[in-house]
Amino acid sequence: MTRNVAPSYDTVCSALSLACRAPSVHNCQPWRWLLAERSVQLFLDLSRLPEALDPSTRAQVISCGAALHHVRIAFASLGWRALIHRLPNPSQPGHLASIQFSPRDHVAPATVALAGVAAQRRTERRAYLPDLVPPELLTTLRAAAETEHGALVRAAEHRAAVVDAVKRASQYRESVEYQHALADFDDPEPAVPELDDKAVLAVLATRSDQVDSWLAAGEALSAVLLNAAREGLVTCPLNHLSEVWEAREQVRTTVLDGAGYPQLVLRVGWPGPGEPPPITPRRVLADSLELLPPRS
Ligand SMILES: Cc1cc2nc3c(=O)[nH]c(=O)nc-3n(C[C@H](O)[C@H](O)[C@H](O)COP(=O)(O)O)c2cc1C
Repeated sequence: MTRNVAPSYDTVCSALSLACRAPSVHNCQPWRWLLAERSVQLFLDLSRLPEALDPSTRAQVISCGAALHHVRIAFASLGWRALIHRLPNPSQPGHLASIQFSPRDHVAPATVALAGVAAQRRTERRAYLPDLVPPELLTTLRAAAETEHGALVRAAEHRAAVVDAVKRASQYRESVEYQHALADFDDPEPAVPELDDKAVLAVLATRSDQVDSWLAAGEALSAVLLNAAREGLVTCPLNHLSEVWEAREQVRTTVLDGAGYPQLVLRVGWPGPGEPPPITPRRVLADSLELLPPRS
């Protein structure tokens, strides 16, 4: 008996809907999915964010990386292994991934749990409780990042330097230039983030600073956020460093001791009292999905 080598259309749509729950900078959701007969192609959609807010495209590629990790988790939870060819077309840097499939005999309960968490996770921007995040949980998050070729480095003794760098970089977000670029954009991100609580501050870093590293940073970000949420922790990525060169350098030379490149700062901790923040809306899947006609 031959086995199906591609998931059904309904399965693909279900997986892609979950992938679209991935976090993205300014919630811009800069992904486009192209559906072929036996594969899904992921493209960067640069029409989703004003250029001035992310001129290098770094944060948008990181967001697509998060969606790519979400898609892997979603397909895995539905019984399919996603076989990914990253940046398959060197002449087209916006073509971020080509995804093919093979059936899985076994779905690990941990994968199903992560998929469940992906549907519910949300960014928490308010103050976190001062309670200790146990070292073993931080080890789990670090391992999740490493599996995806990222590094999660706790700020620890360099916390003040990170706070200072992010606060200084916030001034750029408050500038007329930045606010002008944000006009008519429904932005959920405050210019100045909460930094005075006892959240763990960690830097998500990569070894190099090119498109492939940004994609990996996004996959690592998703792995960290989903594993944190599974443990009941709340998180908030901060992109401020990437927007101001000096601030990024300050963190690179202190927290990373000059080795590697900071991609994001992450706040991690326990949620404060009260209801969790509302789930942030996403555009409908059809808006980011294109079907390729079957080959004759
Ligand atoms: C690359 C990247 C950068 C982000 N930067 C910030 C940030 O600087 N400040 C912030 O509050 N949220 C930031 N976020 C979180 C997004 O705003 C959030 O994921 C989006 O609004 C969707 O909301 P949700 O995570 O609650 O689903 C970032 C997310 C990503 C993927």
